[in-house]
Amino acid sequence: MVKRKKIALIGAGQIGGNLALLAAQKQLGDVVLYDVEKALGLAKGKALDLNQLRAVDGLDSMLSGTSDFKDLEGADVAIVTAGIPRKPGMSREDLTEVNLGIVKDVAPKLKQYCPNAFSIVLTNPLDAMVHALWKLTGFAKKQVVGMAGVLDTSRFRFFISEAVGCSIEDVHALVLGGHGDDMVPLVRQCSVGGIPLAEVLSPDKIDAIVKRTREGGAELVKLYQTGSAYFAPAASAMQMAESYLLDRKRVLPAAALLEGEYGIQGYFIGVPVQIGAGGVERVFEVKLNEDERAMLERSFISVKKTVETIRW
Ligand code: NAD
Ligand code: LAC
Repeated sequence: MVKRKKIALIGAGQIGGNLALLAAQKQLGDVVLYDVEKALGLAKGKALDLNQLRAVDGLDSMLSGTSDFKDLEGADVAIVTAGIPRKPGMSREDLTEVNLGIVKDVAPKLKQYCPNAFSIVLTNPLDAMVHALWKLTGFAKKQVVGMAGVLDTSRFRFFISEAVGCSIEDVHALVLGGHGDDMVPLVRQCSVGGIPLAEVLSPDKIDAIVKRTREGGAELVKLYQTGSAYFAPAASAMQMAESYLLDRKRVLPAAALLEGEYGIQGYFIGVPVQIGAGGVERVFEVKLNEDERAMLERSFISVKKTVETIRW
């Protein structure tokens, strides 16, 4: 008998709660919301609230909340959002010390109780925290991935569709690099219904969209004042989890461990990867021109600098 999959949400905050809703609505499996003792009410409350939503839409995924990591045992997927979000005026790198402490708390438990879970990390600074979780769990590189590229690309696609006035479905784009202000929206590869973006929007408009995409996180932090984006990040991570659970083999931008690809060795950074039942099944190398290579190098230098501040 095929059992329902088990989805562990490590962090039951703004993104965790939306992940739980999405997982239930997509009926991808049973969901366990995990958080620390002082937030046990949040985890249990969101699970109970969502279980009471199930009758409305006829959903069979069972949700539960806990502060006991043992309840996550045997999870097929673990989505890690445990960590503080930034406040106005903060960079993602400002979160490094606190969130590294949280990843150091989570990693050994994840290894003990969910040794085979496909682990999707969102905690910021993303490229450093996914690196930390990989290093601290000792998981294979195909088992650990960071979510940022799907979100950044979704922002890029939205701003383009808004400027063009077309369906967002027909905007195809890709954002490479670290999840930071020097991320690399690849304008040359972007198209609107197969038409190169440069033939649809003026250079000034494109530059403004690239800038807004890079600052997309900060724009929402300024609006929210108390935290950062959560709806789109949750949907982005769920797209990756779904590709793994259903073996969809989607090709998505995500922070993966590079071992020579793009001339990068031993660091996580956002590149197009294939996600299926084997986890990160393949890394795709996009042919970059000189300017694009320089931008990716600049983004990598920022990622490397943050990782090198980590005291393991
Ligand atoms: P949030 O504060 O709403 O939720 C974080 C949760 O983590 C809280 O409920 C907190 O109790 C919990 N937590 C803290 N320490 C923990 C531990 N040791 N074990 C388990 N849970 C623990 O924050 P959020 O808005 O959900 O954001 C979560 C993280 O995701 C932040 O670091 C934020 O910067 C990051 N983020 C990343 C992206 C991305 O694209 N990668 C996008 C948005 C936010
Ligand atoms: C932020 C998220 C989007 O910090 O990474 O704004």
